[in-house]
Amino acid sequence: MIILGIETSCDETAASVVEGVGNKVRVLSNVVSSQIEIHKKYGGVVPEVAAREHVLNILPVVNEALERAGVAHPGAARHPSQEGNKLEAIAVTAGPGLITSLQVGTETAKTMSYAWQVPVIAVNHIEAHLYSNFIEREKIEFPALVLTVSGGHTILVLMNGHGKYQILGETRDDAAGEAFDKAAALLGLGYPGGPAISREAAKWQVKSSKFKVKSISLPRPMLEKNNFEFSFSGLKTALLYQLQKDKNWKKRKAEYAYEFEQAVAETLVGKTVKAAKKYGVKSVMLAGGVAANSVLRADLKEATEKLGLNFFMPDLKYTTDNAAMVATAGYFLARQKKFTPWKKLATRVNWELA
Ligand code: KG4
Ligand code: ZN
Repeated sequence: MIILGIETSCDETAASVVEGVGNKVRVLSNVVSSQIEIHKKYGGVVPEVAAREHVLNILPVVNEALERAGVAHPGAARHPSQEGNKLEAIAVTAGPGLITSLQVGTETAKTMSYAWQVPVIAVNHIEAHLYSNFIEREKIEFPALVLTVSGGHTILVLMNGHGKYQILGETRDDAAGEAFDKAAALLGLGYPGGPAISREAAKWQVKSSKFKVKSISLPRPMLEKNNFEFSFSGLKTALLYQLQKDKNWKKRKAEYAYEFEQAVAETLVGKTVKAAKKYGVKSVMLAGGVAANSVLRADLKEATEKLGLNFFMPDLKYTTDNAAMVATAGYFLARQKKFTPWKKLATRVNWELA
């Protein structure tokens, strides 16, 4: 089955074509037009600007994804080389996300669904992140635990099968990615904060092997609590207080960035390991934009493999927002016949996964 995925929930305009056969999904094209350079000067995503950019980008991005995949839409005159590659469904992120951004994707999918007479599948953005782990993978054994960490969410999800989710815990305040973004702003490292903190932290790792002094210590919030909830707003405040007390903080940026990254990663890994043990899962997965973090990737892999569990994480290009993950989630939803009539397709700004 060949599916077109569309993603516009935040600041990336993305389209992708995937082909699903049995349990395996192959990516035929993956086009992402990022607005990071535009939002950088504001220090974060400006919703009105994002929506306007989506409107400008969506059709060229969709056309490029179809073209690169060698898939003609049903209405187009076909090139002989495209025979056989027939688009069978359109999967679109319907929420959660920024309303005006989401609407560009859903209205586009709606129009294409009507014009091309192709069914549409509404995809939850968090579910799409979970499914980034199923791209080009044969089999993942359930029950699986998924640590979903992005700019908007920090959720531990127990996945008992395709489409079967139980939320074990979430953040009470800031999401992990949001914490990285805010900490980077405090340290004057720019936006997006995750990659900026990582780059700065790496400088300290080099230095620390020479000096071996670590005098900065930040809390590991909620790590000892007997639940699966997170809280990152206090961590950011702890960093702020330490910076205010330290006249030389600008010279020690790398050390602060290093300790901040360690604090977030240790907390996330600690809670995930606890949940994996409690629920006796067979697999552990990492998902969301923060899954691009190299410390988190390495530490979670090591910790889960120590427990003898199968560990999966998406290829780097599928960690931050993209449409291949939307199309992949769409494929598994299509197998469960979860289509939405185009007339009923609507954005769901606060769509809960479970
Ligand atoms: O999934 P995503 O692209 O968008 C949302 O759905 O929110 O995630 C974006 C978030 C941002 O907060 C960004 O700072 C964070 O992911 N991020 C990272 C890294 N790359 C992106 N955080 C830590 N380390 C990274 N390498
Ligand atoms: Zn996302």
